[in-house]
Amino acid sequence: GGESHIEDVDFSFEGPFGTFDQNQLQRGLKVYTEVCAACHGLRYVPLRTLSDDGGPHFSEAQVRAYAAENFEVYDEELDDTRPAKPADFFPGSNLENAPDLSLMAKARAGFHGPEGTGLNQLFKGMGGPEYITSILTGYTGKEKTQAGTTFYENTAFPGGWIAMGPPLEDGLVDFDDDHANDLHHMAEDVSAFLMWTAEPKMMARKQAGFIGVFALFILTVLLYLTNKRLWAPHK
Ligand code: HEM
Repeated sequence: GGESHIEDVDFSFEGPFGTFDQNQLQRGLKVYTEVCAACHGLRYVPLRTLSDDGGPHFSEAQVRAYAAENFEVYDEELDDTRPAKPADFFPGSNLENAPDLSLMAKARAGFHGPEGTGLNQLFKGMGGPEYITSILTGYTGKEKTQAGTTFYENTAFPGGWIAMGPPLEDGLVDFDDDHANDLHHMAEDVSAFLMWTAEPKMMARKQAGFIGVFALFILTVLLYLTNKRLWAPHK
């Protein structure tokens, strides 16, 4: 039990100009597909968005192949299951007590305080993706069984004991780009991917914010000069 420990990670998408790293999102999707999807779902995420700008940005042909190879969905018209298409959503959770992960990166906060002020969130970000990384790397190896359920000690999970066994271990997933696949790297990659599922339009939002602030700055300068000019004859 005790205080949960959340590690601060320097994700590429942090800060006012942060952007998703397309290669990292592609690796994270691979971890999700090969490991997490066995139990969890992403039922609010349309498969076609895997080809969106600012996301994993696969080609449409790649998304079609990925959908068909990895997921079966129920089709009402056929009254049967069929291979998924880009127009479908990711399936929901397979395991009843495994929560859907679509919005998890924004549903959890990693940082709080100090003293309930929330100042850490101002400097380090909300910490949702860090929370996920810390859960995945936070197992101590201890377990206990209570009322037929096995709990695993975890330094990040509130309360210290989680009903999810350690899903990742060094080298579990091989990346197409030969990127490092130790536990920590895979945990960061899948957390980045889950940040994208939770906020797929983040890059567009930051860009719009920048343009807005920039336009206000120009307006401020123009108003200042106008003001000077209007009042000049009366000084
Ligand atoms: C809970 C992530 C793989 C079963 C969770 C939570 C996260 C998560 C973020 C929520 C913790 C919270 O409520 O704050 C992942 C990721 C995985 C993965 C990223 C892949 C790398 C799996 C697998 C299984 C599983 C393979 C099943 C064998 C569960 C269960 C819970 C859970 C049962 C609920 C635990 C509890 O509330 O005590 N997972 N998970 N997960 N996961 Fe996973």
